[in-house]
Amino acid sequence: MEGPVPERILSGKPREEDLALDTSLRPHRLDDYIGQDKVKDNLRIAMAAAQMRGEPLDHVLLYGPPGLGKTTLSYIIAVEMGVSVRITSGPAIERPGDLAAILTNLQRDDVLFIDEIHRLARAIEEILYPAMEDFALDLVLGKGPGARSVRLSLPRFTLIGSTTRYAMLSPPLRDRFGAVYRLDFYDTDAIGAIIRRSAHILGVEVDEGGVKQMAQRARGTPRVANRLLRRVRDYAQVMAEGHITEEVAVEALARLEIDELGLDEVDH
Ligand code: ADE
Repeated sequence: MEGPVPERILSGKPREEDLALDTSLRPHRLDDYIGQDKVKDNLRIAMAAAQMRGEPLDHVLLYGPPGLGKTTLSYIIAVEMGVSVRITSGPAIERPGDLAAILTNLQRDDVLFIDEIHRLARAIEEILYPAMEDFALDLVLGKGPGARSVRLSLPRFTLIGSTTRYAMLSPPLRDRFGAVYRLDFYDTDAIGAIIRRSAHILGVEVDEGGVKQMAQRARGTPRVANRLLRRVRDYAQVMAEGHITEEVAVEALARLEIDELGLDEVDH
């Protein structure tokens, strides 16, 4: 169980698709994370309390629709707590040994992020219970009547589980999270603020009309908003000297065949 964990199941970096999509646009600190105010307030208190006690943050479960920033928030938690984050996902952990390897390779106080945690196999989930509760790994040595169980101690750590399917989590797993936060769709003002921030980072000028046109089509989802912004930016760069006005946004979105509700051809 010693040695590096294969890249297949664990990565210190975001997934390729996330990297390609919006790493540069991801906020790295809680103060830069727009919206989800209730979750941020609760997290701030929980993190401050844990830091005052010199303890890792309690295990956190984040759930809600895709694209709302669950992964981003997990990285932020690690940054705010001043620890490293190890990233994996439910489907990547195929065997109990995979999870055992991840757990034994953690450093004290690390954040372990498990995306799509509802897709963990039940046998693997059971390894998590003592790990979460007692920072312990129970190994069964041998088979049959001679088998015996040994308990290894693990470094203390924070598990952050993320899921779009809260109801698919087994109750015993749900119960072991000290804090459960639901992310909601963002209102148009918050999406507008995210678009302004992203436009600033991308170095593109956008006026209020442009922001409005993109925000109302983003379906309350930052990932969608940032995607629209990048496409509209392309259009503005080629056709409008890089300025996204309301008119430019409307034209660009019409060309992309994205209607007023943010639905494209495939959605229709
Ligand atoms: N980019 C994606 N999601 C964001 C958020 N919630 N706040 C700021 N920028 C973001």
